[in-house]
This record gives sequence, C-alpha cells and structure tokens, in this order.
Amino acid sequence: MSDFEIAPSILSADFGYLMRDIDNLKGTAKHLHIDIMDGHYVSNLSMGIPVVKSIRKHTDLKFDTHLMITNPEKYIKVFAEAGSDNISFHYECTDDPRLLIDQIHDLGCNAGIAVHPDTPIEEILPWVDKCELIMVMTVHPGFGEQGFLNGSLERISKVREAIDAKGAKTILSVDGGINVSTIKPAYDAGARFFVAGNAVFSKEDPAKAVMDLRACVSQ
Ligand code: DX5
Ligand code: ZN
Repeated sequence: MSDFEIAPSILSADFGYLMRDIDNLKGTAKHLHIDIMDGHYVSNLSMGIPVVKSIRKHTDLKFDTHLMITNPEKYIKVFAEAGSDNISFHYECTDDPRLLIDQIHDLGCNAGIAVHPDTPIEEILPWVDKCELIMVMTVHPGFGEQGFLNGSLERISKVREAIDAKGAKTILSVDGGINVSTIKPAYDAGARFFVAGNAVFSKEDPAKAVMDLRACVSQ
C-alpha cells in the first residue's frame, strides 16, 4: 500500500469533454481536485456549482474541492451538497478558520486549509492538527501550468514537522507545478497528496501520466 496519492486537477482538462477526460484516468486516482475561483480572491474564474453537481452524477471519484474565493462560509454548504468530499478554504479568506472547519465537518466533509505562497508558513502551524488536510500552495493560486515556486520545499518540511510533532494524521497536500521533476522532492519534504493538473490532463494518456508521476516517487 502506498502512502501517497495523486489528485488530478480538472482545471487542465478539456471542459468540452470533461467526463471523457475524467474517465480516461481509468481508476488510477481516488480523488479529483476541483478548483473554484471567484475572480476576486484570485484574478481568474473557473467553474462553479453546476459543473460539480453534473460530474458528481457520472463518477464515483472523491471530490477534493479547493475554494479560491472570498467569503467561503457562504458557499461551503452548496459545495458540500454538490458532492464534495474534501472542502479546502484559503486561510487568507477568513478571520475564523475554526468556525469554517466546524461548518465543513457539520456538513459531513473533510476540512482543509489552503495556504497562499505569500503567507508566512508559521501562521498555519497551529492549525495542522485541527483539520484533515493542509494544502500548501506551490504556485500563486488562480492558474494552472505554472512553475513550482522556489522555497516551497522548506515550507512543506515545516508543515510536515509540525504535523509529526503533534502526532496528527493530517494529510499534507501540495498544489501547483507538480510534475515528474518536482513530485519526488515534494514527497521527500513530506507531502503525501499531490494535486496535478497540467502534468496529467495535458498528456495524451492521463492514466499513464498518473502512473508516471507515481513511479517518480516509488523508484
Ligand atoms: C491553481 C490551482 C491548481 C492547478 C494546478 O490555482 O489551485 O489546482 O490546477 O495546476 P498545475 O498542476 O498545472 O500547476
Ligand atoms: Zn487547486
């Protein structure tokens, strides 16, 4: 049994053939990563509730929903009802992470905190045992296909140390710029859940792309 997971990000899929692209994963992944953007917290728009609801009808994959939106508390319920399994909000978008975590739990979902690369990582450390998932952003949120940011490995390591020091089981996720070159260093730094958009869906065979990424960690 492997101790890590790859979550393909549908942001890089062909939205005209979304279910075809998801089906092309052929059981190589357990989670789909779904990026929700509001054109406000991030300067881009992506997809919304109807898309999440629609694909929920056609796949059993778990949904790792990443809210890149202001006022996340207003939208947690609709994304839970649309079929999310994990819901991550941005630490920078709330004054009360505890309340959001409780609300997400009350809706029956796992709670995640996503951290912007410009946020000092120390700010997140007190929260690592208060939720199921910490998502360290390794690019500036808002766009796929960017390069893995310098300094990310150190940030991942600090979160890993904090999780381990507390004896927590929190999943350490990384999002952005994960590819065959960056996945192993990120694993070695302590990440265990890898969001990958471009490295999966820009490839002819997304299932092979996931297996290629897996092989980089396992070898
Ligand atoms: C960026 C998104 C990412 C994106 C990652 O704001 O949060 O999930 O899909 O894309 P890649 O893997 O292409 O960097
Ligand atoms: Zn994301």
